[in-house]
Amino acid sequence: MLTLTSLGHACYTLSDGAHSVIFDPYLKDNPEAVCGPEDVSVDAILPSHGHSDHLGDTIEIATRLGCPVIAAFELCMYCARFGCEVAPLHIGGGRTFDFGSVKLTQATHGSAVIGETLIEYTGPAVGFLVKMGGLTVYYAGDTGLFGDMKLIGDEGIDLAVLPIGDCFTMGPADALKAAALIRPKVVVPTHYSAFDVIQQDATAFAVELGKQGVRCEVLKPGQDLSIA
Ligand code: NI
Ligand code: MN
Repeated sequence: MLTLTSLGHACYTLSDGAHSVIFDPYLKDNPEAVCGPEDVSVDAILPSHGHSDHLGDTIEIATRLGCPVIAAFELCMYCARFGCEVAPLHIGGGRTFDFGSVKLTQATHGSAVIGETLIEYTGPAVGFLVKMGGLTVYYAGDTGLFGDMKLIGDEGIDLAVLPIGDCFTMGPADALKAAALIRPKVVVPTHYSAFDVIQQDATAFAVELGKQGVRCEVLKPGQDLSIA
């Protein structure tokens, strides 16, 4: 069994009861955050790209816990400069850890740390294919729709976390197409409510997905979903 818990915006923990990981730990500046970075206890941190609403508090949490940052090579090298333990991967590559395995998938999006005077390149944006507790989770990250989601779906996806906010990622219409390509058992929509320009009706999206025969679970910050 796996439990996915929403911590607000695109930040989630995934736990099998013995181990847990966190995706995109954006908490301190996150208007939806249900806890702070100091409350997080995980075995690994998986930031999908360098944008502040995803990299978030990765460095603070990783240095406090001494747990690895699992991400694209360039983003890992960025985090290593601040003393983080890192486990660099790249798109199409996977690695097995104590908690399960992680493979990086492509995501059609940018990735950089935006400083006051410099924009620092942090590799490509990625998604994560995580196998843990006998189940397979696809955390798409910030991405537009792409046809190779069908190949990701061929892995047999139990749970897909898909952005629906539009503006910076897929909107609801493209996310419906993505779900048709991925064919997951359940979809959790994400990245749609923290900021004004990405407001979407997730319940309406869930209804449309239901018409496609796909279960959709809308998680408010603090809510969780268990799958078996
Ligand atoms: Ni982004
Ligand atoms: Mn984002």
